[in-house]
Amino acid sequence: NDDPSTASWWKGKKLLVTAGPTREEIDPVRYLSNYSSGKMGFAIAEMAASLGAQVTLISGPVELATPAQVERVNVVSTEDMLQQVLSRYEETDVVIKSAAVADYTPIHVAEKKIKKAGESLLLELKKTQDILQTLGEQKKHQILVGFAAETNQVEEHARQKLKKKNLDFVVANDVTEEGAGFGTDTNIVTIYHRSGEKQELQKMSKSDVARKLLELVATYYE
Ligand code: CTP
Ligand code: CA
Repeated sequence: NDDPSTASWWKGKKLLVTAGPTREEIDPVRYLSNYSSGKMGFAIAEMAASLGAQVTLISGPVELATPAQVERVNVVSTEDMLQQVLSRYEETDVVIKSAAVADYTPIHVAEKKIKKAGESLLLELKKTQDILQTLGEQKKHQILVGFAAETNQVEEHARQKLKKKNLDFVVANDVTEEGAGFGTDTNIVTIYHRSGEKQELQKMSKSDVARKLLELVATYYE
């Protein structure tokens, strides 16, 4: 990194990053999930480790190699992710929740494969626990960074999430824009701080987004 103060702030900080999708089981051969590739979270973990942070990466199922100097914990469901995050929260300085967490999960997991029968099938779902909101409610010394994936009214939704989940920053992206969101190597984001300030970033690689985000956190809290 070019900015020595960013690196010195991050040195030794305990960072928890979540990445990738979560999977909710329907039956022994099926699940509900989303298109998250995990690239944004892995880029953040990699960049933070290179700045000297002590990084734990809690990842849903993705096809990515673990960055150097990063402790990786694999999870599958939202419930797994919640448990792994909560058990480390106390000792954590900064949490960056870039995972695309399932909002709903089947009420019943079928023990046996669901057989094809009628012309339609109704799956009954219940809300998952909001991990980030839970962290917001239990927040003490931690700095909390959330993501907001939106298709419309990006700023309004992002600011609502910042407030509702008691976050310090929210990284908002319009997933309908070319070069932003799921699966891409680039992202176009605006970062909102709880003070009301915002920083709009141009389209750039996820690794550059990671660098900018980590710089911004360091500048606010050094
Ligand atoms: N998040 C979470 N636990 C959930 C759902 C979301 O921790 N059960 C986190 C995500 O990791 C992300 C942030 O909340 O950092 C926002 O996720 P997003 O899907 O954009 O917002 P939601 O609050 O789930 O609202 P909606 O999907 O309706 O926009
Ligand atoms: Ca959601």
